[in-house]
Amino acid sequence: MISNDIELAAEIVKNEGIIGFPTETVYGLAGNIYSTKAINKIYHIKQRPLHNPLIVHIKAIGDLDRIAIEIPAIAKILAQKFWPGPLTLLLKKHPNVSELITAGHQTVAVRIPNHPVALALLQQLDFPLAAPSANPFGAISPTTPGHVEAYFKEKLPMVLDGEACKAGIESTIVGFKGESVVIYRLGALSKEEIEKVTGPAILFNKEENAPEAPGMLSKHYAPQSTLYVTDNLSECIGRFSDKKIGLLRFMQHREEQNIKHQVVLSPSGNLKEAASKLYAALHELDAMTVDIIIAERFPDHDLGRTINDRLERASKQ
Ligand code: TXA
Ligand code: MG
Repeated sequence: MISNDIELAAEIVKNEGIIGFPTETVYGLAGNIYSTKAINKIYHIKQRPLHNPLIVHIKAIGDLDRIAIEIPAIAKILAQKFWPGPLTLLLKKHPNVSELITAGHQTVAVRIPNHPVALALLQQLDFPLAAPSANPFGAISPTTPGHVEAYFKEKLPMVLDGEACKAGIESTIVGFKGESVVIYRLGALSKEEIEKVTGPAILFNKEENAPEAPGMLSKHYAPQSTLYVTDNLSECIGRFSDKKIGLLRFMQHREEQNIKHQVVLSPSGNLKEAASKLYAALHELDAMTVDIIIAERFPDHDLGRTINDRLERASKQ
């Protein structure tokens, strides 16, 4: 059931239930962080491996001290600047945060979502909400209440309606190693925006490093149809001349015969707009009867970098 009844949503999570939860980035599957029953339900419904930790959503910076300890000064500066917003901080966890949330890690991921409905719900609660994206493990993230309903109709008592997500792509995850600022997951807040505050940040390299955040490594965000990402669209379309192609492009349409459906993300060339529409476009292309989806690689800066990251993971076999 999709509903905008915030009181009902509050009742459900107070009683250790799980709801579809709108944020500005993507929809989440939310439950009380202090309820083992609720957290287990989240992992179960999402079919998420227990070694993949959850993000904690708080309503105000004042609540941060109950979630994390030994917070670096630069983390506080980032929180002041970007919260509420699509920035998740990876901090040393407070002893009261269970290892079920952090999957045994001593760090906890935390953010304040910038969505009026999410904040109104959190205001009614005296506990934060743990929420992973509301998609089955590995599938495309949901950016509308309809996407969540399509994935989990029978399994959720309600999806709280917050309309289409404005950012449309997950939060950026930032952690701290010694003096360094490390971006663990590219997201809706660009590396460039973060570096204006912190100076040069390190981009966590999934190939070189141990899997600090397991969910960031595997095939992820993937449509059912096979997805190809290319720098050379003409060659790629030609190579699959016998296939029905679904095409995902940045600014302009193409006319080839074998293109059965195409989505252009931003005719005006705005990377933020393109990022906000990416997942809805993948959902749309996946619902068409195409054999394959081809996406062109985006300019590799600002949110183009985030889009390329998601396309690459979605295209992993
Ligand atoms: O935009 C978002 O961040 C959305 C909305 C709902 O807030 N949430 C989201 O959650 O994307 P999820 O669970 O789909 O992705 C969270 C990522 C996972 O890759 C997880 O491994 C990583 O954050 N993560 C969470 N806690 C962590 C921790 N303590 N240490 C390392 N990685 C962590
Ligand atoms: Mg996710």
